[in-house]
Formats: sequence, structure tokens, C-alpha cells
Amino acid sequence: MSSLSNKRIILGVTGGIAAYKSAEVVRRLQDQGAEVRVVMTPAASEFIRPLTMQALSGHPVHSDLLDSEAEAGMGHIELARWADLLLIAPASADFIANMVHGRADSLLGAIHLATPAKVAVAPAMNQAMWIHAANLANIETLQQRGVALIGPDEGIQACGDVGPGRMEQPDTIVSRAGSLFQNGQLAGKKVVITAGPTREALDPVRYISNHSSGKMGFSMAAAAIDAGAEVTIVCGPVSLPMPERCDVISVVSAADMLEASLASAADADIFIAAAAVADYRASTVAKQKIKKQDDSMTISLERNPDIVSAVVQANPTVFVLGFAAETQDVETYARDKLQRKNLGAIIANDVSRTDVGFNADENEVIWIDRTSSVVFSKRSKAQLARDIIEHLAKGLPN
Ligand code: C5P
Repeated sequence: MSSLSNKRIILGVTGGIAAYKSAEVVRRLQDQGAEVRVVMTPAASEFIRPLTMQALSGHPVHSDLLDSEAEAGMGHIELARWADLLLIAPASADFIANMVHGRADSLLGAIHLATPAKVAVAPAMNQAMWIHAANLANIETLQQRGVALIGPDEGIQACGDVGPGRMEQPDTIVSRAGSLFQNGQLAGKKVVITAGPTREALDPVRYISNHSSGKMGFSMAAAAIDAGAEVTIVCGPVSLPMPERCDVISVVSAADMLEASLASAADADIFIAAAAVADYRASTVAKQKIKKQDDSMTISLERNPDIVSAVVQANPTVFVLGFAAETQDVETYARDKLQRKNLGAIIANDVSRTDVGFNADENEVIWIDRTSSVVFSKRSKAQLARDIIEHLAKGLPN
């Protein structure tokens, strides 16, 4: 599997004879599991029909900044935000100069300015144009800004000249695009992640729960998606926006979470238990709202099933990563859970601190497995999740 699986790519096509090869680029990107949207400049449409690109990409081709119909669908800012990579192939000398000056007088120019995504250009032009000092200076400026340069290739040109300036071959462009993503470490893997708290009903209006926000589980999901995995989140009640590019199964109680987890984990490679599952639930759930009567009341509770242990038992080959949220003796309790629940590894974190852990945006944790432990010092949950996923992926059997 490829590092482009799950990746969203805008293929920008500018005017040049090499534009006919961009149809092949669409296909090769899709072969690698990427989703492709095509944006063409008006000059590109003189070389290859937008209909061809539409049929290949399976989506309407965007070309006009002032197209109200297209803007009503996926507007240019939305499209710019959607992408993981803006790949311009072929990139004409003119468009490269436009990029240098940050011009937004075409849809592609506007997307180039608005996108937070990586940007790569595969130039295509006559050899004399390529080696012109103005063009080489433009290329250098783009590279200094972090734009990746793919090619150009050397050889016979459409005009009969021989030299540098031919667009790279589609296969090379696609493999270079793939190498822009460090990830791909979990390409082809199915990852199931539990996240958030569970809610255990006492009666139709009340429940027992905890302060878990679901942020750590969602960050783990985002990192796994980025790493190319197929992700399912089994999610308790949270107030976070649901991530895209994964399946989300919303559950309420631990019993629901157990059922959804066992079903999803049956064909999974990795199971990550980031949920803060309620340890106990009411022995009986009152059918009607419980009325206040005496000065005190006693609620009888019973143990909830241990979801992660059930998954380990049902799927001995799945790699299982647990979390241990503790307020004291963090490492000791975590090691105990690692053994008792027979986990592949556990992430220990101290939830007595207010600057990290529950509800915070940052966390500081220790990864503990059978043979080693690694401290991940304080960092954002998003970064931490990427680092944990990278560490996990390195240790997986191929
Ligand atoms: O609650 P506890 O500290 O035992 O949680 C340790 C690990 O076990 C966590 O990964 C948590 O998601 C998982 N767990 C579970 N089902 C439970 C309790 C905990 O999957 N009922």
C-alpha cells in the first residue's frame, strides 16, 4: 500500500502540451488510493478537455474563479482547505511566475494562495525557457518557500529541441508526490479506536459518566488516518466535531461500546482503547424518573465489561494499545494493566494535573510495552498522537 492512500489531492493543470499526460497522473494517483480533484487553467483546456479529466477523476473539473455554480458546490476556499496536496502538473513557466508573485487572478492561483496543503510543481516548458535566469530564479523562490520541485526531465521536446524542461513521467510524479508524505506507515491497516466517556443511565434523565472529552481518541484517529489507515472510531458522547475520512459508530453505554468494538475489531489490525469507560453501571435502570424521597439514597452498581480485555480475548492477533489515566503511581498501575489486560502496549498518563490530560489540549505520557518504555514529553495531543502512531507503526510486524 502507498503513502498516498486516503490523501486528498488537487491536481492543477496549466497550459502546455504535457497536459495530456496529466490524465495519466490522475489515474496513477487514484491507483495509489488518493482522492483527486482537478483544477484547470483556461489555457490547459486548450490542450486537454475538462470532460476527460472529469470522467477520470469522477468529479466536476474546477476552472473558473467566478463560476457561481461551482462556488455553490465546493467553493475555492473550501477546496483549498480540503486538500492534503496541491500538485501542479504540468506547471507552465507563466504559472510558476504567477505563483512567485502570489497572483490570484485564476482559480488555481487563488487555491495556491489559500491552501494550507503541501504544494508541488512538475514544470513543463521549452528548454530555453527553463534555463532562463528569470525562470530559474522563480523556481528557487518557490523552493525556498517549501514548494516541492518534481523534475523536469531532459530529452527531446515537442518543439524539437533537446534539453531540460520536459514534464516528468506520470509514475515518477506520483512516486515523488507519495514521498512528500512521511506517513503511509499504517497504509493497508485497519485501526479501531474507542474514544470519549460512556454514559450509564440511572433513569430516563440521569446518568453516571466522567470528564473524558474524547480529544485524545480523536487525535489518535486523525494521526492514524494521516498514516494511511482505514479507521473506525467507536465513540461515546462527546461534543467534538466528527472527523472525516473514517467510520464513526456513536454509542452511549459501555455495553453498547463493547458490542460495537467487538464487531469492528473482528478484522482489525490495531485496536486503540482511548475511551474512559465507566467502571460501573446501575444494577437496574429505573423506568421512570427517580423521585427524591429520603435525605440519602443508595444506588446499587455493578461492574461494566472490560472492553479492551474482551477485544484481546476475541482477537489474539490484533495489536492492542490501552490507555491508563491515573492520579497516582501512574507507571505502576499502568504496568499492572498492561499485564492484567494482556495488552500490546499501554500509554500511561497522569490525570491529576490540570495542564495535561483530561479536557486539556496537551498531554505528557509514557509508552510502556513488555520490553521498553518511552517518555513522550508535554506536547499537543495532535502531535503526541502522531508520535505515538509513528512509534506504534515502527514496532508492528510487516
Ligand atoms: O479504566 P482503566 O484504567 O482500567 O482503563 C485502562 C484501559 O482499559 C483503557 O485503555 C480503557 O479504554 C480500557 N477499558 C476498557 N473497558 C473498560 C475499562 C477500561 O476498554 N471497562
